[in-house]
Amino acid sequence: MLVKSYQKHSIKFFQQKITSSKPDRSILLYLYPRKLFCKQISDLLLPRPFLVYTRVQAMLNITEFRKKAHILVDWMADYLENVEHYPTKSQVQPREIYEQIPEHIPQNGENFEAIWQDFQEIILKGITHWQSPNFFAYFPANSSYESVLAEMLTATLGSQCMIWETSPAATELEEKMMNWLKTACGLPENWQGVIQDTASSATLCALLSAREKMSHFQINQKGFEGYTNLRIYASEQTHSSIEKSVKIAGFGKENLVYIPTNEDFSINTNALAKAIEQDLQAGKKPLCVVATIGTTSSTAFDNIEKMAEITQKNNLWLHIDAAYAGTAMLLPEYRYMIKGIEQADSYVFNPHKWMFVNFDCSAYFVKDKETLIRTFEILPEYLKTQADSQVNNYRDWGIPLGRRFRALKLWFVMRSYGLRGLQKKLREHIQLAQDLRRKILQTSDFEILAPTPLNLICFRYKPEGKSEEQLNQINEKLLNMLNATGKIYLSHTKLNGKYTLRLVIGQTYLLQKHIDKAWELIQETARSL
Ligand SMILES: Cc1ncc(COP(=O)(O)O)c(C=O)c1O
Repeated sequence: MLVKSYQKHSIKFFQQKITSSKPDRSILLYLYPRKLFCKQISDLLLPRPFLVYTRVQAMLNITEFRKKAHILVDWMADYLENVEHYPTKSQVQPREIYEQIPEHIPQNGENFEAIWQDFQEIILKGITHWQSPNFFAYFPANSSYESVLAEMLTATLGSQCMIWETSPAATELEEKMMNWLKTACGLPENWQGVIQDTASSATLCALLSAREKMSHFQINQKGFEGYTNLRIYASEQTHSSIEKSVKIAGFGKENLVYIPTNEDFSINTNALAKAIEQDLQAGKKPLCVVATIGTTSSTAFDNIEKMAEITQKNNLWLHIDAAYAGTAMLLPEYRYMIKGIEQADSYVFNPHKWMFVNFDCSAYFVKDKETLIRTFEILPEYLKTQADSQVNNYRDWGIPLGRRFRALKLWFVMRSYGLRGLQKKLREHIQLAQDLRRKILQTSDFEILAPTPLNLICFRYKPEGKSEEQLNQINEKLLNMLNATGKIYLSHTKLNGKYTLRLVIGQTYLLQKHIDKAWELIQETARSL
């Protein structure tokens, strides 16, 4: 109200008003937190009227914040209710959004209405709607109403939860949430968990911990002298984040050894044992093996038990990347996938993919927290607190110092759904995927290209009489046409050189009708090519 009324008046009037003998108290309250308020307010304002005027003009007061927040919450509910009607994949051209944004920061603050209008008219067009039930691409980053509400609180609290003291509730809730997840997923009870931003960061933590444990923390201390040719092993189907971590951790990309896979795209453990043996004979130093539960291309799962036998025999670190499929461990019937996990050293899965918790939230579990902490520990004077010996300070359990309050959304989701509610949703998704797989198998001009252990279906259109090269071209064209309709969004991979369409059924509010429509559109479009 105050801001609006001053916007209408000249700067001169503003100066007069504020330098009068009885300045309006609310103006002072605006200025005070920004350190613009000094003993002689006129000293400050007269030489710098524009600066002060601009700042006051742009800011919401608490009454306006409340009003705008209500408007936004209504919009959020409308959006989520209607998200299936938006073009699933954004249909903008490259640079289209960029060119609509001014070159420079505005000199004068703009009012909220203008920003809000631009969000709706410019930004929204450039959004791919990840929460649409017609989104079948990549792996989902699904969400839920409960999780969004928790994120609103997290943003409002604005806590930076780097150490216990900077928000004890964040640290203690995180510890408890990791314990809930550990038990609910059947992970070893003596392991410890910590929330990371992404699986990529967690894997980097694992590789750095493996490196430091092996070198007795000497690489942290002195660098790599005496520790060249440290070797990391993962299957050819491993996620690209492993290579990235290998590069960041300083091992060198050439020391990541890709192991061939079996027919079902799981790692060939005989080839793994052989590669390690050969490296030892060549004087190289095997360090770590990365297993995948739920590969990105086809949700293949490596044999942890056999891999653990090999890592135990050679005294190597075993890290398990279950970024997507880890959520399925909430279902006891899928725990066979992680049989042997107690022999591993670290494990990551992303509640932000399939557990109805907003991006980002990655759960990282380790057998030996001391190694993790010693790898990252750094304690400058300004971070020491009296509570240090009694609490977890998660700043030392990962890479960044600053940490968001991510445990809150896990708490909201796990309490609202309960274990049974989560299990019900997951089983529904798997069932829907298995039903669609059966339909595809029964359709003579389509082909399934990989096993479907969970809810990702890998398939292609296969009209008769086409060469492999032609089939690749046809399926690429099909994907582009489907995505250009905006009606659904799929992504692709290549399996055994075959261009493969990937369709994942993991959206929170998806129904049978969305899958039926998608399958109909896929068949129609394919046959129109
Ligand atoms: C198997 C696997 N590992 C790691 C990742 C990377 O996940 P994040 O984006 O959390 O780093 C993905 C992403 O889809 C994945 O599928």
